[in-house]
Amino acid sequence: MEIAHIWAAFFSPKGTTERTVTRIADHLAGQRGLPLQTFNFTCPPARQAVRRFAPGDLVVFGTPVYAGRVPNVLLPYLNTLEGNGALAVPVVVFGNRNYDEALKELRNLLEDRGFHTVAAGAFAAAHAFSDTLGRGRPDSADFAAMDAFAGRIGEALRTGTARTPVPLDNEGPLGGYYQPRDRDGAPIDIRKVRPKTRETCAKCRYCVYVCPMGAIDRVDVTKFVNICIKCGACVKWCGVGARYFDDPGYLYHKEDLERTYTRRAEPSTFL
Ligand SMILES: Cc1cc2nc3c(=O)[nH]c(=O)nc-3n(C[C@H](O)[C@H](O)[C@H](O)COP(=O)(O)O)c2cc1C
Repeated sequence: MEIAHIWAAFFSPKGTTERTVTRIADHLAGQRGLPLQTFNFTCPPARQAVRRFAPGDLVVFGTPVYAGRVPNVLLPYLNTLEGNGALAVPVVVFGNRNYDEALKELRNLLEDRGFHTVAAGAFAAAHAFSDTLGRGRPDSADFAAMDAFAGRIGEALRTGTARTPVPLDNEGPLGGYYQPRDRDGAPIDIRKVRPKTRETCAKCRYCVYVCPMGAIDRVDVTKFVNICIKCGACVKWCGVGARYFDDPGYLYHKEDLERTYTRRAEPSTFL
């Protein structure tokens, strides 16, 4: 199939999925002398219309890993995508713990939506909850791995050796969601946790604009009008550092992750 358009498509509240997907797609576009096209569906307005791709599109499609899976709040939207025979490269970005079932879930979802997956990758990044876990990632070694991955995809497409659906290393039924636990092994439930706002808040409302759930009240930014997914976008992008989490369960889980997953997680790629 003649490839006419290379797409970087992503949900990326804190920007690491965007950087990963864009790097891979940009490398693929450069190989073919095609411009890179971007579909950023992080914020609600971008998810209002049905997104249709076409034969001739090659879509590098990325989401972060939440609880070892594709963020579940995205599923209703993702299940409206129309692949129409486009080629796709599912990419998941995880915070140095593990990607568990997320890559398989995204691969299966894209196949179900009419894409033909030809390669897949899981790449490590800074963890959204932590200032130390995966700090500085993706780094130069990660970007080199992304470029090498894109090079191998280009070669497989050129030589007609790409397999679809792309086989992974953990085929079989989809496993459950990762469950954080406290020091006694009891489940920690952070679903109702929300970030607090310091007095230093400048009331600029930038957090309203970057929240992927449209959850922050535009009149009183300390209030919430929709669910919070703990993505950390409002914390990261606040210009005066006014947003923070102080829930004890959330903080215990963050410290537990920092203690347990200090090693460097490496990317996994499949072709
Ligand atoms: C609610 C939530 C759950 C997460 N679960 C996992 C996980 O199971 N494994 C992991 O390694 N990282 C996990 N992370 C970290 C994200 O995958 C990581 O920070 C990712 O880079 C965020 O992507 P973004 O920068 O594009 O927003 C989680 C982050 C959030 C907000």
